[in-house]
Amino acid sequence: MYNFLKQLITEAGDIALAHKARLADVQVTRKSEKDLVTEADVAVENFLIEHIQQQYPDHAIVGEESGSHAGADYRWIIDPIDGTTSFVHDLPFFSISIALEKSGEPFLGAVYAPVLGELFMAEKGKGATLNGNPIRVSDRSVLSDCVMTTGLACLRQNLERNNLPLMAALAPKLRGLRILGSAAMDLCYVACGRTDASWELNLNIHDIAAGMLIATEAGGTVTDFSGQPEGLPKQILATNGIVFSEMSNILSTIHNQPPENSP
Ligand code: IPD
Ligand code: CA
Ligand code: CA
Repeated sequence: MYNFLKQLITEAGDIALAHKARLADVQVTRKSEKDLVTEADVAVENFLIEHIQQQYPDHAIVGEESGSHAGADYRWIIDPIDGTTSFVHDLPFFSISIALEKSGEPFLGAVYAPVLGELFMAEKGKGATLNGNPIRVSDRSVLSDCVMTTGLACLRQNLERNNLPLMAALAPKLRGLRILGSAAMDLCYVACGRTDASWELNLNIHDIAAGMLIATEAGGTVTDFSGQPEGLPKQILATNGIVFSEMSNILSTIHNQPPENSP
């Protein structure tokens, strides 16, 4: 299954790149005012589903664009292009994210950024890799030495209790804060130690399923702001483990305050 996944996601990346090469002609439609889907998203997802069903006809599949496909025991979780906004704007930060669960437990994950040529993979209990080389989270412990990522999915859904107060509180404490546009890649960057933590509100399971396994297999923590799994995926905090407590305290304290102007 590992080698099947590696081959599959690499070929899916080629499909994304082929669409990127004719970006001006790629059809783009709106799922909502700011949430886009392109013919590349659909083509990649269709390719993935076709090949998974061919190889493993009794497996279940859930894809961001086509929803659930019945099956038993094993379930594939697909985000065909994570970072569609980046893709449409010809920015390099987009990825394909595929996770495989058995009885609800993720045991294989792959995130492939085709423009950057970076394939992150993990198998439960066997660590995580970048282009086949083992990766580990960073050992930075002081927030002012840390670079972190976040995202603004919450604004897309116009959530009242959103990420802006969290960014305002954390940005002054950090060496750097980045919004790269692919939550899956955000988790992989924590896994390989480029960044030290990532947090976001209002993600979905297809955004994080593969990246979560990659980050935890690389020695990181992936929980909700309080350190529990219950709030995932709508509330996610991925860290190198060392900065978890400080980050959890800051995020939980601010996020649990009533929104401004509330009665
Ligand atoms: C998006 C990316 C982005 C995150 C958004 C997601 P999509 O995925 O992961 O980083 O902030 O919330 O929706 O929609 O391009 O697959
Ligand atoms: Ca996504
Ligand atoms: Ca997507």
